[in-house]
Amino acid sequence: MCGIVGYTGSRPAAPLLIEGLKRLEYRGYDSAGIAVEEGASIKAVCRTGKIAQLEQSVTPLHLTGACGIGHTRWATHGEPTEANAHPHLACDGSIAIVHNGIIENHGELRRILEERGHAFASETDSEVIVHLIEDAYSMLAFEASEEDDLTDAAGMRVPHTVAAEMSAGEPSLLAQAVGMACGFLIGSWALCVMAEFEPGKIVCARKESPLLVGCGADGVHVASDVTALAGHVEQACVLADGQIAELDAHAFNVFAQDGEMLTKVDADLMVLDARMDAADRGQYPDFMLKEIHEQPRVIRDTLEDRFDGTRLTIDELGLTHEELNLIERVYIIACGTSYHAALVAKNLIEGWARIPCEVEVASEFRYRNPIITPSTLVVAVSQSGETADTLAAIRDARIKGAKVFGITNVQGSPVARESDGVIYTRANKEVAVASTKSFTGQIVSLTLLALLLAQSKGRLNQGQIRLLFSELVDTAAQAEAILRDVQSVKEAALACKDARSAMFIGRGMGAAVAEEGALKLKEVSYLHAEAYPAGEMKHGPIALIEPGFPVIAVATESPTYEKVLSNIQEAKTRGAFVVAVATEGDERIGQHADRVILIPKVRDALSPITAIIPLQLLAREIALLRGCNIDQPRNLAKSVTVE
Ligand code: AGP
Repeated sequence: MCGIVGYTGSRPAAPLLIEGLKRLEYRGYDSAGIAVEEGASIKAVCRTGKIAQLEQSVTPLHLTGACGIGHTRWATHGEPTEANAHPHLACDGSIAIVHNGIIENHGELRRILEERGHAFASETDSEVIVHLIEDAYSMLAFEASEEDDLTDAAGMRVPHTVAAEMSAGEPSLLAQAVGMACGFLIGSWALCVMAEFEPGKIVCARKESPLLVGCGADGVHVASDVTALAGHVEQACVLADGQIAELDAHAFNVFAQDGEMLTKVDADLMVLDARMDAADRGQYPDFMLKEIHEQPRVIRDTLEDRFDGTRLTIDELGLTHEELNLIERVYIIACGTSYHAALVAKNLIEGWARIPCEVEVASEFRYRNPIITPSTLVVAVSQSGETADTLAAIRDARIKGAKVFGITNVQGSPVARESDGVIYTRANKEVAVASTKSFTGQIVSLTLLALLLAQSKGRLNQGQIRLLFSELVDTAAQAEAILRDVQSVKEAALACKDARSAMFIGRGMGAAVAEEGALKLKEVSYLHAEAYPAGEMKHGPIALIEPGFPVIAVATESPTYEKVLSNIQEAKTRGAFVVAVATEGDERIGQHADRVILIPKVRDALSPITAIIPLQLLAREIALLRGCNIDQPRNLAKSVTVE
């Protein structure tokens, strides 16, 4: 959450920072700001709302400085006001910082800093950082001037920064001050810092929140993720926890904290994945619709090169056939939509491989002391690969001795780097905050994993795997067919748009699809929605039903179809307005549901891949009719990097 960018080079920084922030806007859009070196001072501009608002304020200023930092905020501490927007400035305005993360001990630090005379301008946790740096810098500068006693020809003391710049490869005083300040912080941070007295420099620091630095043709760039670097640099260094980087217009150095010293270390460069470039909406009115339509391609790409007609392979897993065979229990940890993909996978892993599989929300898993043995495989599912709860759960699982396998969409993301093996979902960049195509990529990847485990355990034979794999491939064409005819979805949306609440029901695979359908509706249309396994409705939620109350039922062909039909009737009897997602050729459903959305016949095990599509479209359609912002729903951010 929150996106940060920085640039120092030969071009005006402000337009580059605004462009970078636009690309990172999905990380938070409560407020935004930039700070740019203008002459000998720092000029900061902050605005509430989206980057477009900030751009309107910045453009007329014609800022020309070639060094600057920027921030787009998802508010945690302090309301989304201008005062709480980043950058935050030191008391005298000579230092500016942008921060992504949470400073847990900010209350205590603030009290101490205020006692020392610092004046705070915001309610944020982040502001303590700039005041700490201010103090640390003053102290270091004083010590250095005492030691060096540098004087110029006229006998005047020379600022220490000049001396620091003379010794290439050494950290500047600002970098040392940032290192010292970080030593007082508890929490997580990705930081960019600039100071009037270190012109043309940006110092960055990282702990737990992501930060990448790369050199381009006309300067050096830093950003929270690859998206903002794409097109500017070809390779980037993903800063590791505890590292500090110092950038000037031509190069950057990376330092590790070594006691009180900063020691230069080699920058570990990664080639950027061109597919993660800033995405283009093309002919679509919003990214959500574009990404829904990309799902057939995601299915095909995710399956490419996985099955040679005889054996299924996932080389990235990093586990041998023997190691796979030893797995006796699987935990899948994830959040939000990724969690719903995991619910689908539980049915497949238990059904096909006959391995007990537990699915847990990452934020609960880590505080629960789960039973992990050497034969446990922990699978972490995360589109962004940087969800703080999922990462914390991965670290916890590894400490407990588990092998951790990541399923993510982002190359080089923390989930990818901290797992023993990884499958990339090949969904390419997902921009809309509401996940759609990444859900599909996750289900397809998890289906492959379930098949692989079943293959290793000898639970499915070659012929069965071949058949299932070919049916999996067929879902791409079936998804295309669903996307060609959306009239029934539009009619259902019109009928539901004025509701205040809706219930989603399904059984087995359909229950997981119902969960995801309800989440989509909540996220994009702000309509309250609850999902229940259809059989649970009579144990309480049915009390909610009154005439006209929308019940969205996943009633595709499955072993529990008859039961779902009965549950639909129970709802209908009480006046519910029933929308059913059902299988083509189903002649009975029309007698019970008010609106029917038919989808092609798919084996129950694979049905979530296709059944979710009408529900994604339904949520978007209702949101459109209610005038909501489709790609950037209120209060949300795409990457949830706080716990
Ligand atoms: C889904 O539409 C949401 N944006 C959200 O629930 C998301 O799935 C969740 O925050 C997990 O994100 P991740 O997959 O990047 O870890």
